Amino acid sequence: METISPGKKNIAVFASGTGSNALNLIMYFKTHDGAQVKLVVCNKKDAPVIQKARGFDVPVVVVNRETFYDEKYMLSVLENESIDFIVLAGFLWLIPQFLVDKYRDRIVNIHPALLPKYGGKGMYGSKVHETVKQNNETETGITIHYVDESYDEGDVIFQKAVPINCTLQSTEEIAQKVHALEYAHYPRVIEQLVQKL
Ligand code: GRF
Repeated sequence: METISPGKKNIAVFASGTGSNALNLIMYFKTHDGAQVKLVVCNKKDAPVIQKARGFDVPVVVVNRETFYDEKYMLSVLENESIDFIVLAGFLWLIPQFLVDKYRDRIVNIHPALLPKYGGKGMYGSKVHETVKQNNETETGITIHYVDESYDEGDVIFQKAVPINCTLQSTEEIAQKVHALEYAHYPRVIEQLVQKL
């Protein structure tokens, strides 16, 4: 049975894949007084994030290209759950203009590198960490930013760096360090933004 929480801000998480950040956010806000993850939107019908969300009784809407870019449909999906804030967590499609307009300053993304380095179309998943390693960077990190019409270009809200040693560390080890930063900071930053709504 659905819990009725009238005072809470409702968050929708958009995710395309594994969903470890989505899960982390669901758990973080599960017992929160001010906000809850009310919906997961996924664009891949077999993505692991779907089972993760359903395991916590969070409804999931699976979209395809046609439905995701259909203004009337998508706005009604979000309105049905009274969504106040959108969080992208490994969501790989460009956000349509109507969502950017409707949720301006209320959509955020996390990128697994220190933008403006290693961002843009095609820069996602292990590709980011491989490129960081190839370039022998001495640090990498996370960037949390607002979402606008372009990939990875909205205003930066928060960045956190971590030192790395590209000679000694594998791409997987670099990815692990970045994931640890994501889990530690993304919920907290979202919490602060949602509190200001
Ligand atoms: C994360 O590294 C995030 O920074 C990026 O996509 C990845 C998603 O991983 N935007 P997961 O699906 O949350 O495990």
